[in-house]
Amino acid sequence: MLGKIFTLAIQLKTLIRHFLLPSLTLAFLGSAGLRIPAQAPPTAVPAGGFSQEDYRKHALTREGDVARGARLFADEQKLACSKCHSIDGRASKAGPDLFAVGDKFGRRDLVEAVLVPSATISPGYGTFIVETKSGAEYQGILKQATDAGLQLMGADGKLVSIATADIREKRGSTISLMPECVQAGLSLQEFTDLTEYLATLRQPESTLASNHGMPVLIPSIAKPVTARPFFSQELKLPSSRVQTGLTALHQVPGFSNVFLVLHQKGMIWRMEKTSTGEDKATFADLTGEVFSERGPNGLLDMAFHPKFHENRKYYLKYQVFESGRVATVIVEKQFAADFKGDSGQPPRRVLKIESVAEDHSGGCLQFGPDGFLYIVMGDTGPHNDPNGHAQNLQLLLGKLLRIDVDRTEDGRPYAIPADNPFRSRVDARPEIWAYGFRNPWRFSFDRVTGDLWLADVGQDREEEVAIVHRGENHGWNVYEGYEPFSNQYRKEGQKFTPPVFAYKRKHGNSITGGFVYRGDKQSTFYGVYLCGDYTSKRIFGVTQENGTLKSVRQIGTVPLGLVSFGADEAGNIYVIGYEGMIYRLDFSESRFDEVKLD
Ligand code: HEC
Repeated sequence: MLGKIFTLAIQLKTLIRHFLLPSLTLAFLGSAGLRIPAQAPPTAVPAGGFSQEDYRKHALTREGDVARGARLFADEQKLACSKCHSIDGRASKAGPDLFAVGDKFGRRDLVEAVLVPSATISPGYGTFIVETKSGAEYQGILKQATDAGLQLMGADGKLVSIATADIREKRGSTISLMPECVQAGLSLQEFTDLTEYLATLRQPESTLASNHGMPVLIPSIAKPVTARPFFSQELKLPSSRVQTGLTALHQVPGFSNVFLVLHQKGMIWRMEKTSTGEDKATFADLTGEVFSERGPNGLLDMAFHPKFHENRKYYLKYQVFESGRVATVIVEKQFAADFKGDSGQPPRRVLKIESVAEDHSGGCLQFGPDGFLYIVMGDTGPHNDPNGHAQNLQLLLGKLLRIDVDRTEDGRPYAIPADNPFRSRVDARPEIWAYGFRNPWRFSFDRVTGDLWLADVGQDREEEVAIVHRGENHGWNVYEGYEPFSNQYRKEGQKFTPPVFAYKRKHGNSITGGFVYRGDKQSTFYGVYLCGDYTSKRIFGVTQENGTLKSVRQIGTVPLGLVSFGADEAGNIYVIGYEGMIYRLDFSESRFDEVKLD
């Protein structure tokens, strides 16, 4: 009962948000508004009296008729689905394109996505609310953002442009633009038909293998690698309005039993393995400084200085909210002399990069074998990279950067290494090492070969892994993985470096880069690149030759959101489960057999 009241409250709130906007807003958004009220009013007590639970139960236990479901989906008089969703990969409407939604979600998640849209909001499709100085309020999906202003697409599919000078406040909402009760007015069987139809929206197998590096099948190895809990406890913060979680684990150099675990909200725990168990302590608490209100924001990663034993320096990458804008900063901090905590000295800010739409800040920073600090930065959104950030060499967005933190130069708190590719060009930022990335979340260097492996999170179609070299253009947003995406920012004569490996929705939705395994030299996994998928929770092993995929196998799965990998000095590999658990991978019972690709 309590649950019902709660649902009702949310529904009312949603109703208010969707239909009782100030009349000025409605007028501006276009009088068409949403069609739903005219045909099937989403009242708190839906017509037919079916509860969410009734629909859920029916759709999960009965079969539906695909053709009837398709007709319902397309019927704008009865349901508004097709007003907000395309199904042909064009994604120009307010909601995400659903062309591969049956690959993306299992039946249970599909049903939830329709019944309770706000429970999980598809990345990049959060609702933005903008208040203007004249008192009007707009809400919609952010489609464009520049210094001059932004464009929101409202629930009616109309674009509204708002000039920066007119904006009093903008904020994200935790409520989906997709209204609750879209199913109201449907019979139980009709809802099941609709679900059945959504489940059939998959990428045809024939289009899955459009390239050698993107195999249709990723066969599992015979005996999967086991993910064993490494700490006995979950690492969590009291829950906030938005779900947040762990982002990274690092062994403190020289201390084989001491690890730092990072939480998105700005917490760093020190975990020490002891003979009897483990000791947990707060290493640093930056929760007051780190911004992690919406999207994949917050404390993202850390790196130790190559001369850490002498200077105790380490570097953090996180988001802040300053002067009304979200920005990504890189700061230098120092361990205390006993190496047990932070020194408490004020940090030195090395770099600040302002976001455009707050999404896609990339994740990682690492020192290369050359002693320089490499940092990845995402295009910062919105979807499609409409302003071409990743191809624009005058911006640090959508780039892999390389800087020298041990020297300063030209008034910058860092120097530009002499062999950076764009150092002497006036039309490019000298920090850039490579470009054309969307949201590169994790990269790492192979300890033996020095290869830089980078995994870039895709938009609608492909997740990709690349080996990155100096000055290369990795394609976004001209390409997404192997597939042409847009010619808007394509330049004459430009060369693009293809990925080593990519996969489509059938295998996952958000790639997490890992490490080349360099633990046990006798292991068949020695030299295999490990990566995984945040949502499908699968771990892949990849081998290549001269940048061409040799073999890819699914080597295991993990129980939680696969947000990061970790590697200690001995070469052991850890998996960080977003919801709070750390695992160590046990390879001892498994074999990596290369399966030849066609
Ligand atoms: C007013 C616009 C609107 C209408 C009408 C609408 N949706 Fe949505 N839908 C969205 C938006 C925006 C999102 C992304 C935010 C979220 O995940 O809730 C979304 C998300 C989804 C998702 C999850 C997609 C993903 O990739 O995560 C599914 C499935 C979905 N809608 C199905 C439907 C169906 C079926 C209908 C009709 C019964 C419908 N929607 C009606 C706007 C709409």
